[in-house]
Amino acid sequence: MGSSRRIAVLGSGYVGLTVAAGLAFMRHEVVCSDIAESKIDQLSSGIVSIVEDGLTELVLEMVAKGRLKFTSSNLEAVSDAEFVFLCLPTPQGRDGSPDLSATIAVAREIGPHLARNSIVINKSTVPVGTAHKVRDIMNRPDVDVVSNPEFLSEGSAVLDFLQPDRIVIGSDSRENGLRVAELYGDPTDHKCIVTDTLSAELIKYACNAYLATRLTFINTIAELCEAVGADIRTVAAGMGTDHRIGTAFLNSGPGWGGSCFPKDTEALIHMAETVGCDIALVKTVIRANAGHTERIVEKVAAAVGGNVAGKVVAVWGLAFKAGTNDLRNSPAVKIVTSLQERGATVRAYDPAIEKDSLDGVELVHFKEDACVGADVLLVATEWPDFSLVDLATIGELMSHRSIVDARNVIEVEDALNAGFDYVGVGVGRSNTIRLLNLEAGEGGAQ
Ligand code: UGA
Repeated sequence: MGSSRRIAVLGSGYVGLTVAAGLAFMRHEVVCSDIAESKIDQLSSGIVSIVEDGLTELVLEMVAKGRLKFTSSNLEAVSDAEFVFLCLPTPQGRDGSPDLSATIAVAREIGPHLARNSIVINKSTVPVGTAHKVRDIMNRPDVDVVSNPEFLSEGSAVLDFLQPDRIVIGSDSRENGLRVAELYGDPTDHKCIVTDTLSAELIKYACNAYLATRLTFINTIAELCEAVGADIRTVAAGMGTDHRIGTAFLNSGPGWGGSCFPKDTEALIHMAETVGCDIALVKTVIRANAGHTERIVEKVAAAVGGNVAGKVVAVWGLAFKAGTNDLRNSPAVKIVTSLQERGATVRAYDPAIEKDSLDGVELVHFKEDACVGADVLLVATEWPDFSLVDLATIGELMSHRSIVDARNVIEVEDALNAGFDYVGVGVGRSNTIRLLNLEAGEGGAQ
């Protein structure tokens, strides 16, 4: 572990708060700021409103140890900081490009007040060239701006921060790149990649666009599986054993969503267009992804006889994935909205969402309550306990025993044994599933 440094983290969203608490865990003295006073008031009284595994505990522990403090003043946070992390929102602007107004405003605000020879580190996902832009705005020749993109998945952000695959640092000065690398411990002990600033900024976009493309690919193969009677789980397992491919990010589902992939793929296209490149592949991926979400709506309609008007649809899961309460660009929400537009009544349950957050959707507190009198059950988010339910009991509550499993989390045999019609994503048109038991060395159809 390197020596303790004074660090300011500007922004207290799930990225900023995870970075702040994680750096405090690494024994640095951290001050985290946010212009939203209500957030800072909550955090100062020990309330963490973000659903993020392990974050509340880590924040409370670091506050108790005196290594993490909060303030609503950016200037107070940066006043004697040696390193300033920018973890600011970069929402999608109207033309698809990220809206950098928060980053620009903060750069203007803090520029004159930064400590001598401090380093500003950009964690937010920002277009290539932003570090240079921030440097120009701050107009402080003694202050460097370094890119250090985050690779924190919602739901596992703390673990991703503390045990990263690698840490990417983009710095045009080798010395400052190393100073930032040392914040994470001895650079020779951990997986730090120091690159030039522009490349680091692009690595982030390239990763998210690649992962989105990979998911669209697997969802496309899932579609083909349904048509030919193959099973996507078997196909994905078979693909994943090729070490060049690997097993991660091959779960077929209702299309990708969330606060990052949709925004970042659009931003990449926009960025490429401004320099005369047409990334047709990513455009196709975005289009195909929308089609994969809509296919789930068609599956629900088919499950109730072709028309959802007047039907009751029980929905398990609204968040864009398990482990978070984030509804931004959630495929589940898109499907629910589309079902409502077609005249369905939707009753939903999500373990992380307590308040009615969607117009016209009745949110219930128990998954069983969603199913009472329902014509079909749609599993839209892969919360682990959805696979543990007693389907016979669920079936008794419903008007019709029918499941559309957009996450392939329900055991098909259990569903069939409990008298359900089961439809997954790419699990075969005959409702049977062929599982390849790799560990036991068995193969073939069951
Ligand atoms: C993503 C990246 O994974 C992080 O590395 C990155 O730091 C983050 O964006 C960001 O840019 O801030 P996140 O948006 O939290 O993280 O979610 P993911 O876990 O990547 O999932 C994205 C979408 O893909 C979700 O809708 C999820 O359900 C879907 N997905 C993921 C699948 O359908 N199948 C899979 O096998 C994996």
